[in-house]
Amino acid sequence: MTEAELYTLYKGVFLPSSLHPPQSLKYYEDFTFRPDDILIVTYPKSGTTWMQEIVPLIISGGDPASVETLPNWDRVPWLEEHRACVLNLEQRPSPRMFTTHFRNNMMPPSFFEVKPKVIYIMRNPKDVLTSSFHYFGTTSFLVKPGPQSDFLHKFLNGEVMFGSWFDHVKGWLNAEDKERIMYISYEEMIMDLKDSVARIAEFLERSLDVAVVEKIADRCLFKKMKQNNMSNYSLVPTEYMDQTKSKFLRKGVAGDWKNQLTGAEAEHFDAVYKDKMKDVTYKFVWD
Ligand code: A3P
Repeated sequence: MTEAELYTLYKGVFLPSSLHPPQSLKYYEDFTFRPDDILIVTYPKSGTTWMQEIVPLIISGGDPASVETLPNWDRVPWLEEHRACVLNLEQRPSPRMFTTHFRNNMMPPSFFEVKPKVIYIMRNPKDVLTSSFHYFGTTSFLVKPGPQSDFLHKFLNGEVMFGSWFDHVKGWLNAEDKERIMYISYEEMIMDLKDSVARIAEFLERSLDVAVVEKIADRCLFKKMKQNNMSNYSLVPTEYMDQTKSKFLRKGVAGDWKNQLTGAEAEHFDAVYKDKMKDVTYKFVWD
């Protein structure tokens, strides 16, 4: 099926229509944040699910109850998805934890007024492309990637769900009120998960013993999360997500693009990256 059949154009970006009906987008537009809400923000395939495991464990002081009993989409729900409307989020105790893939300029008015904390995760876009290429082929609500060269073209042009990676990252790097935003990369988490958990806990103003930080980091290892049915998307029926084609928790490494892209594709990607990111001064870990 095509973009026209599966996607809605919302504020200039494609969203899968079945997950984001008009009433859920309206719900988000009218949403009222609390100052102590915690928001995980990502461009898709950048480490969202990983952070949906880490943050609840930090908030619970390492108690695994919520990550063992609640699927990640109810534990740290996406505010733009249809489920947000039925989860009674207004009744949840503080601190509430949410996820969004929205760009900074798509955020609702309350976000700018109330200024909840944000954890923004970035990942090498060539790995985001690689992960997306495999993932898009598994779901019925996304347009199939087709040949890799076509998908590369679409990805670089932002003709995929949630639009351009470049616009997403630049928009959030240029966000106002930076003191309430923590920027962290997938690669930093791969390099040193314990240190990343400790830094996230500090940002969230939770003081955790070293032993608790270690316990959390251990639980959030790729091989452990793969076994957690509340986080590995095995609860999603095959008709929506067919993990026989590719696992949601697929490889969990940095640099897999080297196994995916041809030399010419990587060169083309780098040239587009250089041009689109020329004004960005942020030092990415993958640079
Ligand atoms: P790969 O497809 O490269 O393996 P998101 O949750 O934003 O959709 O991102 C999914 C990507 O994050 C997948 O990448 C997935 O394997 C990876 N991921 C999820 N949990 C992880 C973990 N604990 N450690 C490393 N990577 C993880």
